[in-house]
Amino acid sequence: MDKILVHGGRSLEGDVRIGGSKNSALPILAATLLTKEKCVIDRVPDLSDIHYMLTILGRLGAEVERASGVVQIRAEKIITEAPYEIVRKMRASVCVLGPLLGREKSAKVSLPGGCVIGDRPIDLHLKGFEALGAKVTVKGGDIILSADKLTGARINLRGRHGPTVLGTGNVMMAAVLAEGTTVIEGAAEEPEVIDLARDQMGLKLSASQLHAADGRVWLREHRGEFDVVSVIPDRIEAGTFLVAGAIAGKRVTITRTEPRHLEAVLTALRTAGFDLSLTSDSVTISPNGSRRPLHLETLPYPGFPTDMQAQFCAMLATMEGTSVVTETVFPQRFMHVAELKRMGATIDLDDHRATIHGVERLSGAPVMASDLRASAALVLAALPADGVTEINRVYHIDRGYEAIDEKLNGLGAHIERVKA
Ligand code: EPU
Repeated sequence: MDKILVHGGRSLEGDVRIGGSKNSALPILAATLLTKEKCVIDRVPDLSDIHYMLTILGRLGAEVERASGVVQIRAEKIITEAPYEIVRKMRASVCVLGPLLGREKSAKVSLPGGCVIGDRPIDLHLKGFEALGAKVTVKGGDIILSADKLTGARINLRGRHGPTVLGTGNVMMAAVLAEGTTVIEGAAEEPEVIDLARDQMGLKLSASQLHAADGRVWLREHRGEFDVVSVIPDRIEAGTFLVAGAIAGKRVTITRTEPRHLEAVLTALRTAGFDLSLTSDSVTISPNGSRRPLHLETLPYPGFPTDMQAQFCAMLATMEGTSVVTETVFPQRFMHVAELKRMGATIDLDDHRATIHGVERLSGAPVMASDLRASAALVLAALPADGVTEINRVYHIDRGYEAIDEKLNGLGAHIERVKA
């Protein structure tokens, strides 16, 4: 199993290019099952989660070709069963349910297992499919969907912890091939959901309402050419590099990004005392010497993203003063706290709230990555730490960050990847 060694104490300076969004690309790739026609998707990041999704699509019968960031998929003939062995590695594999149901009116997909960031139920996805007319059965670990026909409906998808991102996408994908109009109330409005709904798909999304056009497919063959969907920049990768700049940077610029999607993260960084300068597609962060602790609460978009919570905990752990971080989206998502404490952080965890008493310096230690964002937080915490931090189970980080070690080394960090 690969591990990463971070030699702490180097300062970062320079530009780093942000890749396509993982959480946007995954449902867009699943949505190619909606049509028999060829789909071309650009700026697809090279990540293990993307690889799993392409493997699943291949097993469902799609022809998949990939050349650098461009993926071409033709799902002319498909099967509707995805067994445990192919879906178990990634929770986002549930988003093949919507397109299979929409196109074939039938799907049998194994229910993915638990996950360290919380329980992660899919009851809201199933509620949405039922509202469109599907019969839902859970048997032997599989979700079985069937319908004679799907009919547009008014559906409220808001759950106890707010809207559901993949649930909204899943129901949208089934609804595009339903008869009539579907309105999703309490829909997630994350940029990744809007990306999935863009006009190329024959959908129009406004505020928290979705209007699906009858049976229209997207990515049609168009004047002999194919429409190409380009995935939006990854706002969480962007935020992670901004925090790297905040923690260890003299001046770091993230390029090919979409600052509009980063509002809450930029506001938090400004409140913490960092100078930011923006262009239409870049953000530069420079320290100004007067850092302040923060009170943060994760919320659905446009609020502060849960996917940036761990990285901010790492930053606040080394900033003077007491910060309070409250997690409302995945209340148990604090696996990074125990590992940060191994590096000398002082953090009290009380239910879904972390109180962080900043210390001057963390020290390198052997630590364990528990999930994607937690592992990014450990890399960030290690950048200014004394000595060497050894991060184990780095396959978690490769699920969602393209060559994070190489990109940080390009800014001046000293990170080694030790192959098992
Ligand atoms: N929830 C339910 N019932 C459902 C679905 C969700 O109660 O049927 C609850 C969840 O347990 C959670 C809240 O609703 O408390 C929000 O979950 P959501 O469904 O929005 O999460 P998701 O769609 O499964 C996506 C991202 C996550 C990100 C969340 C929240 C992808 C592939 N995953 O997950 O990203 O944290 O939205 O923004 O898009 C990551 O990239 O590291 C990651 C975990």
